[in-house]
Amino acid sequence: MKIDGVASRTIWLEPDGWSVGILDQTMLPHTVVRKTLRTPEDAALAIKTMQVRGAPLIGVTAAYGVALAMRADPSDASLKHALAFLAEQRPTAVNLRWALNDLQATLASLPPKSRAAAAYARAAEIADDDVETCRRIGVNGLRLIQELSNERPGEPVNILTHCNAGWLACVDWGTATSPIYQAHDAGIPVHVWVDETRPRCQGSALTAFELAQHGVPYTLIADNAGGHFMQRDCVDMVIVGTDRVTACGDVANKIGTYLKALAAHDNGVPFYVALPYSTIDWSIERGADIPIEERGADEVLRVQGRLPDGAVASVAISADGTPARNPAFDVTPAKLVTAFITERGVCEASRDGLLSLYPEKKSCA
Ligand code: MRU
Repeated sequence: MKIDGVASRTIWLEPDGWSVGILDQTMLPHTVVRKTLRTPEDAALAIKTMQVRGAPLIGVTAAYGVALAMRADPSDASLKHALAFLAEQRPTAVNLRWALNDLQATLASLPPKSRAAAAYARAAEIADDDVETCRRIGVNGLRLIQELSNERPGEPVNILTHCNAGWLACVDWGTATSPIYQAHDAGIPVHVWVDETRPRCQGSALTAFELAQHGVPYTLIADNAGGHFMQRDCVDMVIVGTDRVTACGDVANKIGTYLKALAAHDNGVPFYVALPYSTIDWSIERGADIPIEERGADEVLRVQGRLPDGAVASVAISADGTPARNPAFDVTPAKLVTAFITERGVCEASRDGLLSLYPEKKSCA
């Protein structure tokens, strides 16, 4: 996708052929800052501090983190350390573990001297594969938008999304936003209700930013407004991304997703979850078994924004000493999900539905 008219991915290999460039997402939407990762510790910090975030992008960054580690020291001990260290940076998005397992399988049996080149090659493949996977998710989701548009020709299809499952959360295209971009590019009128997504505000800071950059009509709303707009027939469908889907179809996504699913269910609004195969955790049955990241209370107790002079400031919104909890994700039960939109097609949110698209996983599920 593009920033200020210039094509960009969220992560890339720098011209030196070994260091890794990223967009620092903690600075968006106020400033476009590109950073360079030179060590596995840089990659880990970028994941931990959410300079990169979103399930697929976390996985790709971790893969490049292993490549950086292998460049510095390709020994067995270094590989083991890098895999463990990177895995512990964020717990909920299974794409992190998926990418690290892939790198382990690629590298473990190789002689150390071959590991760095193999790790860079595999990380680049994972990144390119994510782009194609997200493009295909878009093609499959576009059909659902087209169907709704056919019912009311000329009128915009109103789509609500929560958090940022856009191209900034992936390498390009996004998961939840890919059908939206492809519908918009195909001339289907769409309008997106963007939940601000407190406390980190990925909706207002990132989703609104990228939709604006692509020229997609959108309106930012407070997190609590979605149910109201659904009651007033202003939402035709919900599309969200996910950090982990269990073998039975339960969905972990950004905190607040569950409430949107409940409101959608109550109002007969279809609730879709867009995901790549790397987000399915075939080893877990129940959503209750998904580890939920609990972040610092400060994210709830303070808001960050830009002052009139352009400086970024963080201000308290509660009295000193206010106790706060900050779970970063929640679980939406499969029964509230209308369907999954994947790179292989659209399926029911259930074990049978997933296996209909991924029959090779029958032995795992
Ligand atoms: O905490 P974040 O910003 O990493 O959370 C991101 C989300 O919850 C996304 O919706 C999810 O990763 C899907 S990304 C395609």
